[in-house]
Amino acid sequence: MKSKITPTNIETKLRDNDFIVSKTDSKGIITYCNQIFIEMSGYSEQELIGKQHNIIRHPDMPRAAFHLLWQTIKTGEEFFAYVKNMRKDGGFYWVYANVTARLPVEKNLGYYSVRRKPSQQKIDLLSPIYAEMVAEEKRVGAKDAIAASTEILLAKLDQLGTTYEEFSRDY
Ligand SMILES: Cc1cc2nc3c(=O)[nH]c(=O)nc-3n(C[C@H](O)[C@H](O)[C@H](O)COP(=O)(O)O)c2cc1C
Repeated sequence: MKSKITPTNIETKLRDNDFIVSKTDSKGIITYCNQIFIEMSGYSEQELIGKQHNIIRHPDMPRAAFHLLWQTIKTGEEFFAYVKNMRKDGGFYWVYANVTARLPVEKNLGYYSVRRKPSQQKIDLLSPIYAEMVAEEKRVGAKDAIAASTEILLAKLDQLGTTYEEFSRDY
């Protein structure tokens, strides 16, 4: 069970050369985290290892984003995303994440995620879209949440003249 933490508006920013690294098993249970992960999340290594990665899930993140993540990485494809995470003290930090499966994918050995400082421009574009997606997910209820909010994401990116693939490839 996750303990209830009240989110605050206090942001911690990654430094330019920082990388947050974690590894999980096939279910998203954390099996490794680096020092920067510990520093940014505010949890100790002991508190992180063995926990589901949603320990740092922020309520401002739409469910559809994680749905897309799992759908992608399970097939062995790599996934890129801008993610708002919640610290143990309720503060938040944004990351640009690259998540990949340990190979061979058929063996279901687990996943790696490496994150770096995101482009502020992308965060400024995405934040209101994520907010709209979360609102829609609450409005339509669990059964229709993913479909409804994915539609919003794709429509907004289309209005911006881009696709998820293109928008999330920041290199
Ligand atoms: C390698 C890996 C890294 C992940 N990193 C994060 C992360 O940084 N933040 C996050 O909220 N979820 C992360 N997830 C997804 C979580 O496992 C989970 O699906 C998500 O937090 C949604 O949780 P919920 O189903 O309780 O809403 C990661 C999953 C994997 C496999």
